[in-house]
Amino acid sequence: MSRLQAEHLYKVFGRRPDQAVRKLEGGTHRDELRADGTTAAVIDASFTVEPGQIFVVMGLSGSGKSTLLRMLNGLLEPTAGRVLFDGQDLTALSPRDLRSVRSNKISMVFQHFALFPHRSVLENAAYGLEVQGVPRAEREARAAEALELTGLAGWEKSWPDELSGGMQQRVGLARALATDADLLLMDESFSALDPLIRRDMQDQLLELQKRLKKTIVFITHDLNEAMRLGDRIAVMRDGEIVQQGTAEDILVRPSNDYVASFIQDVDRSRVLTAGSIMEAPETGRSDEDLLAEAPATVTSETPIAELFTPFSTSGAAVAVTGEEGDVIGVVPRERLLAALGEEPQVEPQEDPRPDTQVPAPGDEAKKVIAGA
Ligand SMILES: Nc1ncnc2c1ncn2[C@@H]1O[C@H](COP(=O)(O)OP(=O)(O)OP(=O)(O)O)[C@@H](O)[C@H]1O
Ligand SMILES: [Mg+2]
Repeated sequence: MSRLQAEHLYKVFGRRPDQAVRKLEGGTHRDELRADGTTAAVIDASFTVEPGQIFVVMGLSGSGKSTLLRMLNGLLEPTAGRVLFDGQDLTALSPRDLRSVRSNKISMVFQHFALFPHRSVLENAAYGLEVQGVPRAEREARAAEALELTGLAGWEKSWPDELSGGMQQRVGLARALATDADLLLMDESFSALDPLIRRDMQDQLLELQKRLKKTIVFITHDLNEAMRLGDRIAVMRDGEIVQQGTAEDILVRPSNDYVASFIQDVDRSRVLTAGSIMEAPETGRSDEDLLAEAPATVTSETPIAELFTPFSTSGAAVAVTGEEGDVIGVVPRERLLAALGEEPQVEPQEDPRPDTQVPAPGDEAKKVIAGA
């Protein structure tokens, strides 16, 4: 069963929202509703999030991301549609049951995490448990554990204003982790941080996720962040999800010009992996043979940005090995350059995937290589 399921969610602000939904379903454009002061913030959003996945919602300011997120934990009631959490219809729960799900099973981490200034770091991290009514000794032990997970061991007794912005954000994350909630909802949680600290937090989240296997919905307006974190990504525009897929799907097969214009700035070398660009090894050749020609090995998960160093010791190709050390593919040098230069083709999502093609390296590849 999916952990979280959104079915045809709508949120309309303003007068006569139900009528507005019917108009939208009938094909009326949201701009036409604006005239009488009605905002269609989320329009017909459907998706599923599997246990252990990071699902990223990406879109520009005002595209409806936060509104969508608030419907996922029942803070906002959908104008139409349903939210299923572990198969349970949140939209049908009594206010009391909804509060209980929200405080026990779902945690939220915001962009500007409001820590209580007169409580210690430990007490701040324990706050979610306090709300749940967990006794002091237990909640402090669990909060200390969560602080350790986020790299804040030793800071328990400090005050929030003694911490940097990045560390404060970690306290927010620790608070969410301490509650043992299955579902973490993160709204631009790293957006206020400096780029280096932000990257650090992304790494840490991925690292934590390997161990904790939470289900996470992460909101960002930064496509690079979306691509680093997301197992799946939904791109929102003007209230609608215009594409859903893996980072690679979106990068290689943008569903329209809007998405295509977004991905121009994405660092392809960090999203595409050796596994996605490798060729099958020549049939009939032994692993020893292949490794003699391509002695440097990487795994299929290695981002292609990290292939330049192996290439410098390997010659014309790098071997891609599986879990047992067997050769599952090879990446010839031309293929790496081609992948960096490849222009994404805009095409409808339903179309069959095109065969892989090897165009000449473009400007982007030259740029990367010049800088490598
Ligand atoms: N309570 C509200 N009443 C009226 N309109 C609202 C309300 N909340 C949000 N909106 C409108 O809904 C639209 C989507 O807002 P939302 O906050 O979901 O966008 P967002 O993608 O999270 O943007 P940002 O990146 O700036 O946080 C906007 O046009 C906003 O003005
Ligand atoms: Mg928002």
